[in-house]
Parts: sequence; structure tokens; C-alpha cells
Amino acid sequence: MEFSEKAVDFLVIGGGVAGLRAAIELSSEGSVLVLTKDKSTESNTGYAQGGIAVALSDEDEVRIHYDDTIKAGNGLCNEESARIMVEEGPQYILELISWGAEFDKEESKLSFTQEAAHTRRRILHSHGDSTGKEIDRALISKARSFNSISRYDFSFTLDLIIEDGICVGASVLRKGEVINIYAKAIILATGGAGQIFSRTTNPMISTGDGIAIAYRAGALVKDIEFIQFHPTTLFAPGAPPFLLSEAMRGEGALLKNIHGECFMTEYHEMLELAPRDTVTRAIVSEMVKTSTNHVFLDLKHLDKNFAKKRFPLIYKTCLQYDIDITEDMIPVSPAAHYIMGGVSTNLHGETTIKGLFAAGEVACTGIHGANRLASNSLLEGLVFGARAGKRAIEYASGREKQKITGGTGHLNDDKVREPETEDFELEKIRSSLRQVMWKKAGIIRCNKSLSEAAKWLRHKEHVLETPLLNRRVFELKNMLTTANLIVASALLRKGSLGAHYRSDFIEKGENWQKHTACAAGKDTFWTD
Ligand code: SIN
Repeated sequence: MEFSEKAVDFLVIGGGVAGLRAAIELSSEGSVLVLTKDKSTESNTGYAQGGIAVALSDEDEVRIHYDDTIKAGNGLCNEESARIMVEEGPQYILELISWGAEFDKEESKLSFTQEAAHTRRRILHSHGDSTGKEIDRALISKARSFNSISRYDFSFTLDLIIEDGICVGASVLRKGEVINIYAKAIILATGGAGQIFSRTTNPMISTGDGIAIAYRAGALVKDIEFIQFHPTTLFAPGAPPFLLSEAMRGEGALLKNIHGECFMTEYHEMLELAPRDTVTRAIVSEMVKTSTNHVFLDLKHLDKNFAKKRFPLIYKTCLQYDIDITEDMIPVSPAAHYIMGGVSTNLHGETTIKGLFAAGEVACTGIHGANRLASNSLLEGLVFGARAGKRAIEYASGREKQKITGGTGHLNDDKVREPETEDFELEKIRSSLRQVMWKKAGIIRCNKSLSEAAKWLRHKEHVLETPLLNRRVFELKNMLTTANLIVASALLRKGSLGAHYRSDFIEKGENWQKHTACAAGKDTFWTD
């Protein structure tokens, strides 16, 4: 295997909203290299439908957005992070609009939609239900306007480079070569880990890489048992669990069981707009009661033209599976959607490793607590991407750009090698892992199911030692590492809070206001 070295001022790993916003912030202070492991537009951001929450409408206030965020988080939010996000959010959205992002309007005014657990209509959306794509487009185009920003697509980060306890770069697999890329500061913005579960709204790239590489490097990972399961994803023969935006319920769509009966009245006073974890569990409960694997989302009563215009992507996608959302009830069931925990950061994106910053879904700022308020994640990515960028500039100002020899050569072939043939065993483990996590560490967990998952994971530890060097193998290693952390944290939290529901401990439990934490070489522990 060939290798080489390279040095830049700033290395940003990940090209979604947080990574791009950070890169733009850094662009005036030196060379910025953005790495994406797939094509440049492939990120969780690009798939976001519903929108981006922000207190900008006439009927809204920052204080109310803050209260809704804290309430949804079930008492576990970091209040300071949440306050920063809601207060700074409006300025970053206006900036994004000034960079060309187009949000839907009613006449000349921005149009805000409703989503679950928001007490105001405060979700901006774009092209109906393609908000993330538009935000990505605007950020990519802004980033392209800076000569200082370059990107390496299809570049997979293998590990961080740590010297004397400081993060100084990353080893990256690109075009069959390993490149050690050194930088004064490194920003991790790799997104989530939905692919660890067999049903997920997340794209194929969401394999928990950032969490795993930061953990391996010694960073603290927090609250990782909190996985948000989106209540409504398409459940049709041959269809992936395609997201059916909560905004559909915000516009009046109803949940019905297979007998065509509305059921949310039995579960929460906010009905279809109850917090996401409540709606998800209500759906599971109805599925159990009616011995089936789905419920229905019904928007047939809405004006047909409105429904098509408001949800064009969903309309077109469902038609591919012979479902006309204006005429048919849509079969839906929950799927893994978002990870609230992640690499622990402070208010400036600093992780517990000097030189390493994190922002977006990979990070745990604590904003989302035990349950994320819908459409807060894109806002968090913008605000904390920029904040991480600002702090990285301060940090880097006292540091020299790494001197490199420009060396090239060969890596030790005992440790790394390209697989010679397709490795079916590893693909089988990947598939089984996703099913084990869905069944045993999914929406409803208990000591027995989590212990079985832990045992299964222990038996797969040999994969972590496999000396094969390609993206699929490394993704699998990262999935196994992240799954282990999720299971260990879920076992430690003997209580139910927000998205973490234990059927054997349905009360909050003794330590409910504390946070779970994982650090390499230690058992999962409690922290403040
Ligand atoms: C949705 O459109 O329902 C997803 C929004 C989100 O997860 O924030």
C-alpha cells in the first residue's frame, strides 16, 4: 500500500452543514481541506426534508424556541448550548439567505411550518420537502467562492493522528493510497450513525465513523444511548425506510392503525404532534396491539394540490411504490434517525483532545438532551459549525504549520492489505450487526436484550483486528465500535428517559440527570 504526506492549515472531516459552515469560517485564516468519504453532496444534511427551526416569525420568540427545546430534551439538555443555538440561530439563517439559500415563502414573507413539540410554526423549508439539499447547495456554492478551501471527495478517514496528546492530523484512504494529512486544527463533522440499525432514514455513509475514530484517539463520548427513532418512514414492499417528514403531521396528516382508527388520543394531549419519542412508542404499541408491522399516515383529507405542492419529493417517491399520498393511506413504521449523543464538546466545539474540534451530529453539545426537538439539528450544525471554526482559528494562531518531508513510500504490509476477493463474511457481519442492534438495542430495550447484543458484539471483536484496508472494512469496524458504546451506555442507564426506553426500568431512574460517558480503556461511567 502506497502512502504520502500533506500539510494544510485546517482539516475539516465531513461535508454536511456543520463541516461546510466551519470551513467557510476558517477560509480567511489559511488553507482549508474538506474531506468527504463519498461524493461531495452525500451527507445527512442533503436528505433533511422537514426543515430548519428558527425563531424568526412574527408570532415567535427566541425564549419560546428555547423552552420547547428544553422540554423536548426531558431535563437532560445543556441549557447554555441550547440558549446559544436559539439566540445565535436567526443571525446565521439570515446570513445563509444572504449567501443565496432560498426558503419557501408565502407572498413575500418566509413560510414557517409546524412540527412535533414546537408550540409555534417555526420551521423554514425549501422546495417543499427538500430543505437540506437547498442548504447544502448554498453552502457548497459559498465554499467554492474561496480559493483557500479545497476538497478531497471519496476520501475515508482511517484514524486521527495524535502526537503528545494533541491531534495534529488524520490518516486518510484515498484512491488506494494512505495520506497522512497534518493540520494546525482538525474539525470533525462526520454526521451520524443510523446505518448501525437495520431500519434507518440515514444514507449509507452514516456509519458512526467520527464517533469511533474520536473514541479510538482518546476523546470522551457522551450520552450515546439516546437514539432518536423517527415515527414515520415508508413501510412498503421493496421500499427503503424513506422519511415521511413530520411536517406532514404538522400540516394535518393523521396517524391511524390498520383498522383505520386514529389512536394518538390515547397517548398524548398533543396528539400527532406529541414529542417524537412518544409518537414512536405509540406506533409500536399500536403495531403490537393489532399484530402488524405498520400503521398508516393519512393525508387524504388535505387538498390534493396543496399536498403535492407542499411535499413534492414525498409525493414522487411514494408513487414509485404505487402509493398516491393524495388518495391512499401511507403504510409507515419507525426507523433510526438521529443520534443525540456523540463526541463531547464544550460551547466552542472543543473536544477533550487538544486540537480536535467537533460539530453537528457527531458532536454532543448537549443541546438535544434525551430527545431532539424536530429540525433543531440543521440549526445546531450551522451555529456550532461556525463556533467551532472561530475557536479553531484562535487555537491555531499559536501553532506552526506542520513541516512535512513530503515523504512517500509503503506501509507495513503485515498490518494493512487490500482484500483480494470480496469478503462475504464481513458483509454478513455488517448485516447481522444492523439487525441485532434494531432488535435488541432499538426503540424498546431491556437488560436481557442489551446483554444479548453485548454478547453478540463481543464475539465479533476479531473483526476489529482484521488487517484489511478498504472503506467497507473500516466502516464495519467503526459500526462495531459505535454499537458497543451505544449498548454499554444503554445498559448503564437503568431508567427510561426521552428516546432511551427500558421496558425493565420504565421510571427515570436514580441517575437520570447525569450523563453517560465512554472513554477508551475504561468502563462506561456517569458524569455531570
Ligand atoms: C422531518 O422532516 O420529519 C425530519 C426533521 C428532523 O429530523 O429534524
